Order: sequence, then C-alpha cells, then structure tokens
Amino acid sequence: MEWTREQRYRKIEEVSEQELHNLKKIVQQCPWRQTFHIQPETGLLNDPNGFSFYNGEYHLFYQWFPLGPVHGLKYWYHTKSKDLTNWENVGIGIRPDQFFDSHGAYSGSGIEHDEQLYLFYTGNTRNLDWERLPYQCMAWMDRHGEINKANEPIIDHVPEGYTDHFRDPKVWKDNDAFYMIIGAQRENLTGTVVVYRSNDLNHWTFLGEIDTQLENFGYMWECPDYFELENNGVLIFSPQGLEPSGDAFRNIYQSGYIVGNPIALPSLNYQHSEFHELDHGFDFYAPQSMEDPSGRRLMIGWMGLPEIDYPTDQHGWAHCLTIPRELSVKNNKIIQKPVKEMENHRKAKQEVHGIIDNDIKSYADFNGTTYELICEFHDIFASEVGVAIRCGENEETIIKYDVVSKKIVFDRSRSGQPFAEKYGSIRQCDFSADIVKFHLFVDRSSVEVFINDGERVMTGRIFPDQDSNGVQFFAKNGKSRLEAVKWEY
Ligand code: FRU
Repeated sequence: MEWTREQRYRKIEEVSEQELHNLKKIVQQCPWRQTFHIQPETGLLNDPNGFSFYNGEYHLFYQWFPLGPVHGLKYWYHTKSKDLTNWENVGIGIRPDQFFDSHGAYSGSGIEHDEQLYLFYTGNTRNLDWERLPYQCMAWMDRHGEINKANEPIIDHVPEGYTDHFRDPKVWKDNDAFYMIIGAQRENLTGTVVVYRSNDLNHWTFLGEIDTQLENFGYMWECPDYFELENNGVLIFSPQGLEPSGDAFRNIYQSGYIVGNPIALPSLNYQHSEFHELDHGFDFYAPQSMEDPSGRRLMIGWMGLPEIDYPTDQHGWAHCLTIPRELSVKNNKIIQKPVKEMENHRKAKQEVHGIIDNDIKSYADFNGTTYELICEFHDIFASEVGVAIRCGENEETIIKYDVVSKKIVFDRSRSGQPFAEKYGSIRQCDFSADIVKFHLFVDRSSVEVFINDGERVMTGRIFPDQDSNGVQFFAKNGKSRLEAVKWEY
C-alpha cells in the first residue's frame, strides 16, 4: 500500500477508538510478535529516546508513528521498567502538537535535573513548500509522570554552515555545565556533530563542531551520543552515506563509534581511533546510552533500519528495540554484554554437551522459538563450527565460526520470509579465537548474538514459520567439543 502524505501526517488524536481497536486486532494476530522485546502496539517504532533512570525507574521512550508501518508523524512513546526486563507501556510521552514540532517530535535524550527528568528532542516542522525547519525543544517530566513542554524552542535556528538536517540532541553534564551534541550536515553535504553549552538547560551557546579526523565520512550523522567510560571519550553516531567496504558497511546505514581521550571542553579537540561498527549483523541503528545508578553504561538500539520494507508491514506494525547491553572499553574497542537482568527471563533450563565430528547434531526437546542459548565450541579441529536455529523443513538461521577464513558468519538466506535482500543475506566479521562462545537471545522474529563475551555482536530480524523451532549444532571437516545451555524465555 502506498501511503499518501495526508495519511502519514494524520494524528492519532483524530482517529476513532474503533479504528484503533481494529488496528490493534490486526497486529495481535501477527505470528511474528515479539515476546521479550519492546515493540509498538500498532504502527512503526524507530529510535530509542530519552533513555534514563529517574525516580527509581528506568525510562525509555521511542519514536512512534501509531497508524501504520511507515515513517509518518512521529510521537515519543513512553515505557518504563524497574529491572530492564519487564517494561510497562505508559502511553504517549510527547505529542507533535505545537508550531515547533508540528511535523514530528523527533529523537532526543533525557537527563535528571532539579528533581525533574528533562527531555530534549528535535521538533521537526515543514513549511508550505515542504521545506524542513528543525527546532531543538525541551520538556520535563515530574515525579507523577506528567510531562510539560517549554513554550518556545531552546534552539530556534540552525547555525550558519549547516543544512536543515540538524537533529537528535543528546545532553550530558560535565562539572557544572551541560553540553548538548547534535547530529548535523555541513553545507558541503558531509556529516558531523556540533556541541552547545548551557548552565541552566534553558539557554544554550553554540560551541562548534567536535574536531574529529573524519572530515568526509558520509553525508549526515544521525543520533550522536557522547560519554566517558574508564577514562575514554566515546562518540557514537549513525552515519549515512558510507560505501560498503569488505565485510563492513553492508547495511543501508551504519552505526558505530570512535574512542579516544575525553573530548577537551570547551575547545572540542578530540584525538580518536578509527570508526568501528557497533553491530555486525543486519538490523541495528540509532542506539542510545545512559549511565545507571550503579555506574553501568547501558545501551539500547533500534532493531531496524530506515527505508526498508519488513514482513510485519503486512500486519500493521514494524520494528522493535534491542535488549539492553552493558558497555565497557578494551583496547580502544567497545565490549557489549547483555545486561545481567536478562536472567530474570530464564525459565526451564536444558544442557547438552558432546563431541561433534563432521556432523550436524540435534538433541531431544532441545528446541524453541523464544530462548536464551549459550553454546561454546572447544578443541576446534574443524573447518567450521556453529549453530543453526529456527530450523524447519526449508528454514534455518546459521551462526558459525569459519576457522579457515577466521570470520564469524550470520546467514539468514534461508531464515524464512525474505526481505532486504538487495543488501545481501549474509553478514560476517573478522574474528579469531581458540574457544568460540555464541550467546544468543532468540525471540519470535529476531536473534541477537554476543560473541566471546561481547567482543562482537550480530543482530538480525528473521521471519521464520512458527513451526520452525529446531536447533542444530555442527562441525565440518573435523571435530569439536560442544557445551550448550539453554533457557526457555
Ligand atoms: C534516525 C532518525 C533521526 C530522527 C528520527 C525521526 O532513525 O532519522 O535522525 O530524529 O529518526 O524519526
């Protein structure tokens, strides 16, 4: 179905209860609804927004177009959780109902100040000629969950030298000052990030660009995030317009990071490493991080990409968020682990082990559609070792270590309903280790794989048949010892 502009910019407030009810019913019948991932009740979810801890709970908002699986008029939808595993749907957090956000409450962040949770977002507007005019806006939530907006944008124009692609404010505090990083496009159509400074969150002064060594690196950097971790300054952003290069940059858009010394404030000088992708799978974009009260740096991403049709579109909804990951830095690289709280989901446990010798093995009742699985391959004397999940008559999703090419491979070419094939059905990344550990989180229509305790991560949506629930382990041209444990979710 082609969506007209009118349909895309229809407000949920103008839609009858009956129509919403019907939409929900269609969505609920979808066989690919997730069970432990944050997903929209109807319509399209994209970036995580305002990820924070406030008043004893984690708060997480997301970009939402309620009325269908397309990028239409965006709202912030609000969810919260005490334990990062059970998320409560709170309702709409920010509505696009003012002159400064009339065409969408776009992405942004949250920070606690003076006992309120301050929310910063981009008000997307269009004039009669459909030209984009972005405003940076502020709202705040009180202890009762009531959200109010400032009457005026806090930044009402794009500074000279940049185009109208100027959005996604992320705010942090350093000593007594607040800093805001914004994703931007220079007038020469290259991407960058700029920084503002404030003492009170209301008045912001433009400082300039972060002085990276990535002068010509894509045409726009979306959703920037900056934080310091173990004395490193980490800049995460989602660049658009990178060309594929070997195994890298195979998705339509990328998201990754550079690591260096903490950015010098306010001069914005920054010496840093090369750019690394955060996730080597298929569906990962626009992540956002926060520091929780125990000092952990946590990150959640959008498990989807812009401008791609997904099989759930037919069922009136699209996309979900990833599970939360805890970040650390090792040798200038980010290590990502599933948060420990995921263990709250664990139900029935099963374990298998043994030697696989040039064979494909499955084990009685060792299967499922929603589970956590840790499998380790030791004493590898084979050309490849791995696991196939969601196996059915004609379906399987393969995660393997290719010992010869020294790569981890994620193959979804036979995963079920095909999609995004234009971008290829295999992702791989360099890897080398004597023992290989795959830590999988499998939901009805996705898999997230953490490799050797977070040295690499690969995430992908898959759309298998409900009956495809087999799990198979294999070693090719030789043998390996397998240790596997699985928990139903
Ligand atoms: C990234 C993005 C952001 C923007 C939002 C709109 O996916 O394009 O730059 O704020 O989505 O929904």
